[in-house]
Amino acid sequence: MESKPILVTGGAGFIGSNFILQWLAAESSPVFNLDKLTYAGNPGNLESAACDPGYRFIHGDIADREMVSALLSGQKPRAIVHFAAESHVDRSIHGPDEFVRTNVNGTFNLLEEVRAYWTQLASPDREQFRFLHVSTDEVYGSLGADDPAFSELTAYAPNSPYSASKAASDHLVRAYHHTYGLPTLTTNCSNNYGPFQFPEKLIPLVILNALSGKAIPVYGEGQNVRDWLYVADHCEAVRTVLAQGKPGETYNIGGRNEKRNLEIVQIICDLLDELRPDASITPRRKLISFVRDRPGHDRRYAIDARKIERELGWRPRETFETGIRKTVEWYLSHDAWTRAVTSGQYRQWLAKQYS
Ligand code: NAD
Ligand code: DAU
Repeated sequence: MESKPILVTGGAGFIGSNFILQWLAAESSPVFNLDKLTYAGNPGNLESAACDPGYRFIHGDIADREMVSALLSGQKPRAIVHFAAESHVDRSIHGPDEFVRTNVNGTFNLLEEVRAYWTQLASPDREQFRFLHVSTDEVYGSLGADDPAFSELTAYAPNSPYSASKAASDHLVRAYHHTYGLPTLTTNCSNNYGPFQFPEKLIPLVILNALSGKAIPVYGEGQNVRDWLYVADHCEAVRTVLAQGKPGETYNIGGRNEKRNLEIVQIICDLLDELRPDASITPRRKLISFVRDRPGHDRRYAIDARKIERELGWRPRETFETGIRKTVEWYLSHDAWTRAVTSGQYRQWLAKQYS
């Protein structure tokens, strides 16, 4: 195994844990995981990595500069892949404070400590070092039905406290490259789905509610459009950018899978009717319940991924049809995981958001 590790932040969350599991299967260097274990962080996602000599977990906050400094000088990572964030739009509407604290101040503190660490590296480690910042397409705002998809040149226009906090962190990362020369890479990805996604997000929430015959909340008229990407494809894209991306550049990542929310919900209902027939609740489409819309709800997101495809040769492996079937099957076969994450705290969130 190549000796120099990478450091992942937020690796106990949905995308981070998929990334670490893929990294351990595909790459030869160790991976350290710094995670605060908020409600969204789940060490159980990485159970299968626990005994892997290439994996180590560190419980901590990216905003804790002393701890981050000691971690960097002690472990000497060759790269940082920064996933840690507050990630749920609806939570940012109820309580934006944590979003500014982690996404803005936390990223700033991390950048400061990474800059201090990187500055004292000797050649060639200094030239080879990378800081990869994982961001979102939501920083670009909302598209009209006929607008072209977001490219790397689209102007930022964030609309929710979540996307504003991510946009702020993107700008800080950009400035650290421009001003200090820190070798940064930024990725802006569309909506992910797949194993280990916390059921506050649309797809796992619909799977679990439809499975147990509960009402399926669809905001507004269900006509908002998202561009869906299977999480393993996002993780491969991040690995590709880390290996081949040009410092200072940003790369949009997406799967050309634009769908209206109502269509997503109907597909999941039909899949569950097929895979888990239950006369008392089929057809599950009858569980669909239109509820109050999200304030400031962005109408449409769509990613133009031609840059990463052209320059780095990345392409998604899954279509929406193959990815959603894998995802539904994963939730059906991971009942213990689901039971563990849908305990007390989760129920309090549902009561607050959907009552
Ligand atoms: P998540 O909410 O599932 O996981 C976030 C992780 O970060 C958790 O493990 C949490 O414990 C950790 N964390 C939060 N605050 C922290 C702090 N202060 N210090 C250390 N760890 C902390 O999020 P996700 O859906 O896996 O998203 C990961 C990243 O990808 C985020 O930056 C998000 O903005 C971005 N992103 C997500 C999507 C998506 O569809 N989920 C799409 C594009 C980009
Ligand atoms: O686009 C990338 C972003 O995708 C990421 O940056 C975010 O971290 C991630 O949470 C996701 O944001 P969205 O707001 O698009 O995802 P969410 O799953 O919350 O909602 C998807 C769509 O479904 C959105 O239009 C709102 C709608 N929705 C959501 C929930 C939770 C419903 O209709 N009902 C619901 O109960």
